[in-house]
Amino acid sequence: MNFKIAVLAGDGIGPEISEQGVNVMTAVAEKFGHEVTYEYAICGADAIDKVGDPFPEETFEACMRADAVLFSAVGDPKFDNDPTAKVRPEQGLLAMRKKLGLYANVRPVETFDCLIHKSPLKDELVRGADFICIRELTGGMYFGEKYQDNEKAYDTNFYSRPEVERILRVGYDYARRRRKHLTVVDKANVLASSRLWRQIAKEMAPQYPDVETDFMYVDNAAMRMIQDPRFFDVMVTENTFGDILTDEGSCITGSMGLLPSASTGEHTPVFEPIHGSWPQAKGQNIANPLAQILSVAMLFEYFNLEAEGRLIRDAVNASLDANVRTPEIQVEGGAHYGTREVGAWIVDYIRRK
Ligand code: IPM
Ligand code: MN
Repeated sequence: MNFKIAVLAGDGIGPEISEQGVNVMTAVAEKFGHEVTYEYAICGADAIDKVGDPFPEETFEACMRADAVLFSAVGDPKFDNDPTAKVRPEQGLLAMRKKLGLYANVRPVETFDCLIHKSPLKDELVRGADFICIRELTGGMYFGEKYQDNEKAYDTNFYSRPEVERILRVGYDYARRRRKHLTVVDKANVLASSRLWRQIAKEMAPQYPDVETDFMYVDNAAMRMIQDPRFFDVMVTENTFGDILTDEGSCITGSMGLLPSASTGEHTPVFEPIHGSWPQAKGQNIANPLAQILSVAMLFEYFNLEAEGRLIRDAVNASLDANVRTPEIQVEGGAHYGTREVGAWIVDYIRRK
């Protein structure tokens, strides 16, 4: 296959992990005879500094020209600490999601046996947990009508039927390919938007008789994820609930540095780590590149290139088994490996296989 990849490295540790993702992509492409060309584009705080816009038109065009976007991270503390800032790096991420129509955010919560001891949960609770959160990404409060003055403010949690139907279909499609269990997470006891979700899900469920559908209030789901994470197979939820639950999901696995994600929808799909830009670690060669590298696996799998994805996953597992790990997951007494060294080891493994 011929791939055109837009590479958006962004801020903080973004450029360092991006480089490793690109190296892995290139190595896998060479191995399987794919042609890849990369087009680099700016976003986030980097783009604000350079052109005053966190998702400039040229970057949008580069994304639209590409088959897939390999995204890293955006965010810079100089904006977090300035409530008067008119434009923020995160707006670039939201603009990208909206302009590319990326309504489905797929965030797998997978555990790695050798890192289970890092989980804040007991080993026996979390071992074997393996579920996917499908988060609606272009609707709800993030994009609904907003208002703010000194006395009052509101955000509107707007959802239309087509928006709900299309994301539930994504949920059902994933459930069908997995353990056939879909949990629709909402707050239908309080919110009108949630009642619409639940009504539409009940209408759709008979079309998927092979999938068991259940409904759970979001507060209960937050609890259940801690008490019994193995209950879940695929969960589907609205934008804000999904934002919160996926942070919870990422920490129960033991390391946020290992979790990739895919955002898909109307235009070019985006593959990115779940973690953020970790500005404090910028330039230190200590950031874990595995979430970015696993995003490349998700990219290949999106194009039904299962063997390519498998090879990357095998390489990542082999690096963990060999204790070729960045400091935050390294075993006691283990050698020091930086971002570049872990990436290089994985590239080498791929070439040798
Ligand atoms: C995420 C992030 C973003 C979100 C922020 C950075 C706007 O937290 O991707 O989960 O809230 O969606
Ligand atoms: Mn978030």
